[in-house]
Amino acid sequence: MFTAAKGAGGAVRQLAVRQQQNVRTALVGARAASTWANVPQGPPDAILGITEAFKKDSHPKKINLGVGAYRDDAGKPYVLPSVRTAEQKVVDARLDKEYAGITGVPSFVSSAIKLAYADSLDPSRVSATQSISGTGALRIGGAFLQRFYPGVKTVYIPNPSWANHTAVFSDSGLKVEKYRYYNKETIGLDFEGMVEDIKNMPKGSIVLLHACAHNPTGVDPTQEQWRAISDAVKEGGHFPFFDMAYQGFASGDTDRDAFALRHFIKEGHNPCLAQSFAKNMGLYGERVGAFSIVTASPEEAARVASQVKILVRPLYSNPPVHGARVASAILGDAQLNAQWLAEVKAMADRIIDMRKLLKLNLERLGSRRDWSHITSQIGMFAYTGLGPEQMELLAKEHSVYATKDGRISVAGITTGNVQRLAEAIHAVTG
Ligand SMILES: Cc1ncc(COP(=O)(O)O)c(C=O)c1O
Repeated sequence: MFTAAKGAGGAVRQLAVRQQQNVRTALVGARAASTWANVPQGPPDAILGITEAFKKDSHPKKINLGVGAYRDDAGKPYVLPSVRTAEQKVVDARLDKEYAGITGVPSFVSSAIKLAYADSLDPSRVSATQSISGTGALRIGGAFLQRFYPGVKTVYIPNPSWANHTAVFSDSGLKVEKYRYYNKETIGLDFEGMVEDIKNMPKGSIVLLHACAHNPTGVDPTQEQWRAISDAVKEGGHFPFFDMAYQGFASGDTDRDAFALRHFIKEGHNPCLAQSFAKNMGLYGERVGAFSIVTASPEEAARVASQVKILVRPLYSNPPVHGARVASAILGDAQLNAQWLAEVKAMADRIIDMRKLLKLNLERLGSRRDWSHITSQIGMFAYTGLGPEQMELLAKEHSVYATKDGRISVAGITTGNVQRLAEAIHAVTG
C-alpha cells in the first residue's frame, strides 16, 4: 500500500513537473511570438500614398493635386494675413494655458454658431461644442446619435462622399448606407436619384448632407434643388446632419454657402451641424471646429449639452485652445472679420479662376471633350470624369498626381502649371 501509494505519489509528482515544464515552454513560446503577431497590415491612406509617390518623383515640373489644402499661385501653403494678425493678438494678450471647459473656448463657440446660422434661429436653441476640427465634430455627432437618436440609427451618405465619412460613422456605431448623388454620364448631380433615394429611406433615417462644395465631386445642388431636398427629408421624417467643411470657400460668400443649412431651419428642420475652420481660415493643423445640434427649446438645448459633455469628457476631456482663440479673435473683431471675409473670397476666386484657365487651356489644345463641368463644379475639388487608368497614366507619364477616382484639387493648380496640366489631361483623354 505504502509503496504503491508512494509510487502513485511519484507519478503524480512527475505529472506535475511535466505540466510545469509545459507551462514554461508555452510561456517562452508566447514570449517569442509578439502580442501583436496577428495584427494584419492595413492598406495605406489613399491620399498619403499619392504624396509619397509625388515626393519620390524627380520630374522638375511634377504636380500634386491630391491633397485637399489651399495653395497660393506659387503652389505654396498659405497662412491668411488675418490669421497672422489674430495670432499676434492672442500671443500679445499673454493668456494662460489653463484647460478650456469640456466644450472649449466659449467666445469661439458662440461666434462659430453665429457664422453658421446667422439670424435663422434663436441661438439659445442651439447646443454647441468646440470640436477637433470637422472630423471631430462629425465623430461627436456620430456618438451622440448612436446614444440618443430615437429613429433609425442608419446614416445615409452621398455616393460618392468624403472618404472618411463611412469610417467616422461606423466607428461611432451607426450603420452607413449610401444615396445616389453623382451621375457619371452627366458628370453632374443625379438630382432625381437623390430625391427618390431620400424618399425611399426607412422613415426617420439620418441623412448626411454636404452643406456646400461637395467633396469629392464639387457638384452642389442649386438653391431650388435644395428646397426640394428639404421637402423630401421632411416627407420621410428624416434627420438632417449637415457637414459644412467649406463655408465661404465654395462661393467666396459665407452666407451664400450656408444657404442649405439656413433654408432647412426656415423649413422647420432641427438639424445637427459639423463645422470646420481648416479650409476657410487655413487653420488645418490647429484643428478648429464646432459641433452643434438645433433643438426645440433652450431647456432641451441644456439637456442635450449636458449629454454632449458626458460624451466628450472620456474622448479627449477638452479641446486645444490656441486655434480657437485665433478664430475667435477674427470672428469677434469687425475689422479683422471683414479682412478675413475678403481673404476667403480671394481664395475662392483664385480657385474659380484656375477652373476657367484649365478649361480654356484644354479647349485651346483642341480637346473635343465637353469640359464645362470643370467650371460648373465648385469648391476645392474638381471631378474630372477621368477613369483610374487615365489617372495612372497622368502619374506615370506626366508626373501629375491625384486620386484614382479622377478628383483633382483645384487649389494645387497655378498660372505656372495649368498649361502643362491641360497638356497632360489632353494627352490621356485624346
Ligand atoms: C466633406 C468634409 N468633411 C469634413 C472634413 C474634415 O476636415 P477637418 O477635420 O480637417 O476639419 C473634410 C476635409 O477634407 C471634408 O472634405
